Amino acid sequence: MKKEIIICLGSSCFSRGNKQTVQIIKTYLKEHNLEDKVYFHGSHCFGNCENGPMLKIDEKIYQSVTPENVIYLLESIFDKN
Ligand code: FES
Repeated sequence: MKKEIIICLGSSCFSRGNKQTVQIIKTYLKEHNLEDKVYFHGSHCFGNCENGPMLKIDEKIYQSVTPENVIYLLESIFDKN
């Protein structure tokens, strides 16, 4: 089954890092040939700005995601497969 990654592009998360994180995830998926296996898209505010920047992977919410720690998160998810 395809994995789904949803990134919050609401103004709070976007301005606090998700603007860069979008690009980092895109590049990661490309470099690891995961573009066909992952449905990656943006979303409006998750309604939890104070714990942001937010990211959702297969219904699991990740908080305080940064351009620095998102790579570790992606590795932990995709290394398992
Ligand atoms: S802008 Fe991301 S939770 Fe509100």
